[in-house]
Amino acid sequence: MPNVVVLGTQWGDEGKGKVVDLLSPAFDVVARYQGGHNAGHTVFVRGRKIVLHLIPSGVLHPRKLCVIGNGVVFSPRAFWEEAEALRELGIAVKPSNVVISANAHLILPYHLLLDRASEERLGEKKIGTTCRGIGPAYEDKAGRRGIRVADLLDPDGLREKIEDNLREKNPELERCGLPPLDSRAVFEEFARYGERLRPHIADASRLLHDRMRRGQSVLFESAQGVLLDLDHGTYPFVTSSNPTAGGAATGLGIAPRWISAVLGVTKVYTTRVGSGPFPTEIKDARAAILLERGKEYGATTGRPRRCGWFDAVAVSYACRLNGIDRLAFTKPDVLDGLDEIPVCVGYAYKGTSVRDFPVETRVLERVAPRYKIFPGWKSPLAGVTDYARFPQRFKDYLRALEDLVEARACIVSTGVERRQTALRDAKLRRVADPQKIRSGLRSRG
Ligand code: IMP
Repeated sequence: MPNVVVLGTQWGDEGKGKVVDLLSPAFDVVARYQGGHNAGHTVFVRGRKIVLHLIPSGVLHPRKLCVIGNGVVFSPRAFWEEAEALRELGIAVKPSNVVISANAHLILPYHLLLDRASEERLGEKKIGTTCRGIGPAYEDKAGRRGIRVADLLDPDGLREKIEDNLREKNPELERCGLPPLDSRAVFEEFARYGERLRPHIADASRLLHDRMRRGQSVLFESAQGVLLDLDHGTYPFVTSSNPTAGGAATGLGIAPRWISAVLGVTKVYTTRVGSGPFPTEIKDARAAILLERGKEYGATTGRPRRCGWFDAVAVSYACRLNGIDRLAFTKPDVLDGLDEIPVCVGYAYKGTSVRDFPVETRVLERVAPRYKIFPGWKSPLAGVTDYARFPQRFKDYLRALEDLVEARACIVSTGVERRQTALRDAKLRRVADPQKIRSGLRSRG
């Protein structure tokens, strides 16, 4: 199996968790390269809902190695909470199945407080972050004052770094009306994490390199969608890292030549949480239909997602940026009952037609989407696993999306469970047959 990047082509929440879970059996390693516990990857296994925020979804499969790369901002507190929740489901998180890069930056308690304070200060102009401390942790990384996972293993150095940082952060917290943090308490908490995490910490770049040299295959997992990319997304309404495919190389310390393919995950409509431009956002009652039928509530924060029609301009942009030629389409069953389904095929801006996704947010905020209307298929898609059995109108809709974005559908997800999936090519059916997946989940009762 080649090494494949799996990423979201919209503003996140495309259903990457399910796709990664489905493909994991075909890989030896699943490696997360950016983001932190702001992500929410929802996986349903035998009726049980599992939401993973920080640990790659590959952990649900026995004998798979999961890697948390240097590009991730790592909250030890969130890690142990998630590990504990997994343990209760019968999935052990051990040094043999979860490795954390020594170079990943830590999320410290002041990052969370400053994230929240910054959002409050911005008021109407807030980004709508998940308030998990992600942005402030990446700011410290870029500012060269961050504290890394490796620092947990050197108590004297860790104490000094926490003291140095708090000398700067405490006055900032006080300016925000928050009490200062006690450096001793923070140090003691993080020193304890260091002891527990020690066997999980490694040179992840070296480990991945050695495994790939030995012929093992890696699935590179992004945490957010392409349109939330710090450089290529709808700045400033973005996350603070690079979900785009290039992020896999820098976020794991692997040479780009190891990446053999990029698979995009795309909803057949669009959602977004948080603020920022969203040209195809639905402003009428149909938004509520998508929200409720699609259960479009944030997996991390529970916020209702803004809902809109499929935006071919945005997804083509994502395909171009990442070299995507294969797509996994998700949630078509949500559109089942609709009479008509609009698809955005271009934008109009100041009387001219725009075919490329505008790089200026101010322009994107002002474009008017141009729609092509497709007839609804009016028959239930939920659980259909055979591509040939899709209604013709749905096949036509899918074909139009493929043509518009110049990428081919290889997976169509028709429900939350692994088995509710239509795999279009024979090779995929051989390597990712949902019926044959063994999970580490303890069976119920
Ligand atoms: P942050 O990553 O918490 O700083 O949030 C920045 C922006 O990214 C906000 O609009 C968030 O709603 C969005 N965001 C972050 N993680 C996710 C995710 O997993 N799904 C969807 N949106 C996300």
